Amino acid sequence: MRLSYVSVLTLALCVLSFASPSTAGERSGLKGSEKFIDSLVAVMTVEEKAGQLTQYSAQWQGLGSGGRLSPEQAEQIRQGKIGSLLNLLGAEQTRSVQRMAVEESRLKIPLMFGYDVVHGYRTVFPIPLAEASTWDPAAVELSTRVAATEAAASGIHWTFAPMVDIARDPRWGRIAEGSGEDPYLGSVMAAARVRGFQGDGPGTPTSIIACAKHFAAYGGAEGGRDYNTVDISERTLRETYLPPFEAAARAGAWTFMASFNEIGGVPSTANRFLLTEILRGEWKFEGFVVSDWGSVTELRQHGIAGTQAEAALAGILAGTDMDMEGSCYRDGIPQLVKEGKLPMSVVDEAVRRVLKIKARAGLFEDPYRYCDTAREKAAILAPAHRASAREVARKSIVLLKNDRSILPLLKNLGCIAVIGALADSGNDCLGPWAGAGRGEDAVTLLAGIKAAVSPETHLVYEQGCDVTGISTAGFSAAVNAARGADAVILVLGESASMSGEAKSRSSIELPGVQQQLLEAVHAVGKPTVLVLMNGRPLAIPWAAEHVGAILETWFLGVETGHALGDVLFGDVSPGGKLPVSFPRATGQIPIHYNHKQTGRPSQDTVLWTSKYLDLPTTPLYSFGYGLSYTTFAYSNLTLSSSTFPASDTMVVTVTVRNTGSHRGDEIAQLYIQDPVASITRPVRELRGFKRVTLAAGEAQTVTFPLTRGALAFYGLDMKKIVEPGLFRVYVGGNPVQTLTADFTLQH
Ligand code: BGC
Repeated sequence: MRLSYVSVLTLALCVLSFASPSTAGERSGLKGSEKFIDSLVAVMTVEEKAGQLTQYSAQWQGLGSGGRLSPEQAEQIRQGKIGSLLNLLGAEQTRSVQRMAVEESRLKIPLMFGYDVVHGYRTVFPIPLAEASTWDPAAVELSTRVAATEAAASGIHWTFAPMVDIARDPRWGRIAEGSGEDPYLGSVMAAARVRGFQGDGPGTPTSIIACAKHFAAYGGAEGGRDYNTVDISERTLRETYLPPFEAAARAGAWTFMASFNEIGGVPSTANRFLLTEILRGEWKFEGFVVSDWGSVTELRQHGIAGTQAEAALAGILAGTDMDMEGSCYRDGIPQLVKEGKLPMSVVDEAVRRVLKIKARAGLFEDPYRYCDTAREKAAILAPAHRASAREVARKSIVLLKNDRSILPLLKNLGCIAVIGALADSGNDCLGPWAGAGRGEDAVTLLAGIKAAVSPETHLVYEQGCDVTGISTAGFSAAVNAARGADAVILVLGESASMSGEAKSRSSIELPGVQQQLLEAVHAVGKPTVLVLMNGRPLAIPWAAEHVGAILETWFLGVETGHALGDVLFGDVSPGGKLPVSFPRATGQIPIHYNHKQTGRPSQDTVLWTSKYLDLPTTPLYSFGYGLSYTTFAYSNLTLSSSTFPASDTMVVTVTVRNTGSHRGDEIAQLYIQDPVASITRPVRELRGFKRVTLAAGEAQTVTFPLTRGALAFYGLDMKKIVEPGLFRVYVGGNPVQTLTADFTLQH
């Protein structure tokens, strides 16, 4: 039976006994309504239902270009066997494929186009780990808003972002995609990204649907090896890994993605506890869950399903609604229903969830609303978008060291030597998961320096060596360049393809012969600035000891060079802080600021304490650390009361003063500690932060509200509790150098 769109709608109207709606608003209400969806589900065959739960990828055509549809995929769309596609880009291309679904399939249900818009679409912004270094949710919201505006104009309805996995292991390459090690910072960033992507929400053509991924604890992979087993307690799951997901759900993320990993023997794609009990039960999530790429099929490799159909059964019963890049649901669901192994009601529920999101995105109202070539042309790489990318990139830079105020450099130096393969590589500026970005769009560091210095300044550029190669043939030219220069900017680190998915490293030192290059150039004795480009914390103890100035820049996107030019030459003072700790050596991993005390806290002079024989227990640079060209002093830490008010909020205030001679940004941070509780608590837990801009000499009172909820933790029975007793508050520019105050929480 072939039904026209009109007949489906007519059928729906009969079921609903509605009078013909007259306004667009009414029509949209009708088409998005539960009843409309129920009436649609009522006329679907089981194959069409399985189709709505199936997503395929268009064939990949390389960085920055959209994929292509195969003839088989086109046929399946016409047969209603595909409900969503990923990796198909562009207003024109998505329009022509959408037409196949809404004009040539029986039920004319629109397709949903998904893509990994992770840190920008064509205007690539800093990688998420860099954006987390801004500690500025408004900057992150701006970045995702721009990304959504460009992607939506280019036919994309749905992004597989934000990636909100907490990561405490820099060997894991996907640490680049998230917001670092801390659940509180991660939650603030997760919510900001959801708000940015989804904008004004349903019906606005510049909004795209967010997808919180990878649910859950994917970052806890053993040994930092991607896709590896995760074995953590429910407490660690709830206290460390779940908060950013809960924040994303509460911010209204319409979709979630199940992760590849197992937790304690249960792969996430088949984990009912996660997908149904926690996500839908506890958090009241009403959207749908997509698997990760092939992760339904992989239930066979995990060893919990013998066949594709068994994998489909395990996935859908647990709460995974859509099968990404797999045929388990497409082929398995009809078979399982016919055999009586899978109740149709379970399938219907999943289909309803998917259709509801399509309706909320306005696709039944106008399936082509996202395919607008004029808007696409105007939005892509719009000057205002590039300006935002530059602003966010500047805010993402973290100054790790600046002895004798080497930075900022003068713009009119006679000669600057720029050394390092990464200094002039557009592709590497973009970092991993660069959306539709193109290397040629990027302003490299070298180009940015050229644009920033005076016309008289002579620039000499030498690569020195490759990022990973072992040849030292370029060293002597690099050393000569350094000899003839007034200052040296060395750009070292990782190429963009060394972080992201499947990019785990067993050692996090500088790759290749870059460490030797650094030592050779440093030996020349010129003022040297090390600019790091990398997708993970690196172990750089030698540089930290010997090099005068170090800037952590991660991957800053299309405006890399301009943003760095602004910072290197002092137009802007760097104000980012680390969202993740830098170990001294790979062997310190995992290392994070919010660790437990242990029964034997480390003491340098006492052997029988928790420590290493060959390394301190502290990181090289802690979470929350970052310098500025100016200095800040904290004073007047005040609590609104020394006992916590019976029901509401404690107010913590502190004065932050710019005590140096540059204008600059400071990120004031508030940590708490619960020194005695029924469950051991971390030595510090971030509970508030604020980025402020202060002119030289200026002071500002910063206020942090502290609610009872911020003092809560999971009790022995895994229920949240707040225990009376003493609490300690720490406020400062990092978790170590702080002012402290105590208060008592009463019953
Ligand atoms: C990744 C996801 C991504 C998906 C689609 C998977 O391999 O794990 O993060 O969204 O591919 O590209």
